Amino acid sequence: MEDQNRLRLAVLVSGRGSNLQAIIDRFHGGRGRGVEVVLVVSDREGAYGLERARKAGIETMVIAPADYGGPEAFGEKLMEAFERCEVDYVVLAGYLKMIPKNVVRCYRNRIINIHPALLPLFGGSGMYGIRVHRAVLESGMKVSGATVHFVDEIYDHGPIIAQETVPVFGDDTPESLAARVLEVEHRLLPHAIELIASGRVSVREGIAYVQREEPGVDRAE
Ligand code: GRF
Repeated sequence: MEDQNRLRLAVLVSGRGSNLQAIIDRFHGGRGRGVEVVLVVSDREGAYGLERARKAGIETMVIAPADYGGPEAFGEKLMEAFERCEVDYVVLAGYLKMIPKNVVRCYRNRIINIHPALLPLFGGSGMYGIRVHRAVLESGMKVSGATVHFVDEIYDHGPIIAQETVPVFGDDTPESLAARVLEVEHRLLPHAIELIASGRVSVREGIAYVQREEPGVDRAE
């Protein structure tokens, strides 16, 4: 496939970047799937995800909200970088900052996020990292999982693209559950990106619809 037909991604990370690594492993370096990571942005200089990007030869930038006068100016800076790199879609892969409203507006249904639980449960402000898995265990639920969704103005709220469940066991700790969910995340996020790259995802009235490979439209990917 010619380069101009590729989906150009910016991936935003705040930490470890294992989901970024899953994306790099699946798509990077012309592996013929029509997707290229062209930019990795972090809000923190020390994020290990930046190191992973550099190793893969991907351009990196640190854009820290605190360096700008407010969310709008921070958003302008992000969009300047996206435009310069001709970014089509933005992937939040363990990114902990709120995406400014001006960016959400401009990139409506072109920003996706991975969340380590089954939204709309266990999401929202303050629900990140190990806290999510602790809340799942405290709820007594017998399944958890991962969700990939489009980003809107509300934390962990936009149209759901893909989900996968994992069992919750009686002897789970937040850490053991997190590890089981993470394994799923590393499959689910590249899968959702592939669905988008192949033009199979559309959004109507706040619901994402995923077209099956055979004729028909299915929500339950
Ligand atoms: C993942 O669990 C993701 O769902 C959440 O933050 C974590 C990031 O992990 N949003 P990593 O940085 O990709 O290793």
